[in-house]
Amino acid sequence: MSPFLLTRTLTEGATEAALRADVLHGLRRTPKSLPPRWFYDAHGSELFEKITELPEYYPTRAEREILIARAAEIAGATGARTLVELGSGSSEKTRFLLDALPGLHTYVPVDVSESALTQAGRALIAQHPDLSVHALLADFTGGLALPGTPGPRLVAFLGGTIGNLLPAERAAFLASVRSLLSPGDALLLGTDLVKDESVLVAAYDDAAGVTAAFNKNVLSVVNRELGADFDPDAFEHVALWDAENEWIEMRLRSRAAQTVKLPALDLTVDFTDGEELRTEISAKFRQDSIRGELASAGFELAHWWTDKEGRFALSLSTAG
Ligand code: SAH
Ligand code: AVI
Repeated sequence: MSPFLLTRTLTEGATEAALRADVLHGLRRTPKSLPPRWFYDAHGSELFEKITELPEYYPTRAEREILIARAAEIAGATGARTLVELGSGSSEKTRFLLDALPGLHTYVPVDVSESALTQAGRALIAQHPDLSVHALLADFTGGLALPGTPGPRLVAFLGGTIGNLLPAERAAFLASVRSLLSPGDALLLGTDLVKDESVLVAAYDDAAGVTAAFNKNVLSVVNRELGADFDPDAFEHVALWDAENEWIEMRLRSRAAQTVKLPALDLTVDFTDGEELRTEISAKFRQDSIRGELASAGFELAHWWTDKEGRFALSLSTAG
């Protein structure tokens, strides 16, 4: 049986402190906002997996199609011995890479969701008995330290999760990933592409209401962790396309004027009727803009692959 190691670089105390700081900052500003990281408790991670199976949510299927078609090329181009995956979630699509990388020594899934890491780890050690799996419970935006495993390293950031970072956060994030790598290492990046507004909005406002439940889950997380009294039914799920910024924005719109208490923060927050709380951006990309952002961080884009319908791209960049 392969070894499975879980390193918690986030203690419970550090996670709670980060949540308190984000809630204090985000609910006292105008417009109100919360970072998307807080969607992903065990229930939120399950809801995300359900989203990936929705007919309207194409990114997972499109990226899987590219991975299946290109895994051998990625393996040949990188010769990776360590695969680090940021925001690995269920690691479901990763198996196409793991199967294709012949000399792989260690897989390092990195996520803030402990339930996702342990469930994925259990499945992986059963399927890849010779692989060493070293999971990191860590925030990928916060000064990541990688285990000293053999190179070349391939860092994968799949699913389009880079689009959930604001432009300035994205630039800092890409620079921090570059600083972890040496010449010969590579970055495999999944990016959702700009497309027709109706297709994009449907992907974030599905008919079955799974994305609405995922969006409202952040309120349940704040209730549980900070003793707040948000009533999720008192908010409406909103998904809209911001054509100027080329991103989808998810918001929670207050159905009435209301006051929410957060006793752990000694805070009360007023919402006016119709006031919106931004919970996520999901930026959509074009090849030229992502090439430029990668270059600014010290990466050279070497391959650009899309699915047959041109909805989603996977790029492979070298650490120059
Ligand atoms: N890569 C998977 C999962 C995408 S969902 C896929 O393509 O399907 C986004 C994942 O990133 C979730 O598992 C979530 O827990 C994780 N995540 C979100 N913010 C994070 C952060 N700041 N640091 C580490 N993981 C994060
Ligand atoms: C994880 N991330 C890439 C998803 C996205 O599409 O932005 C999260 C998500 N939000 C709503 N649906 C899915």
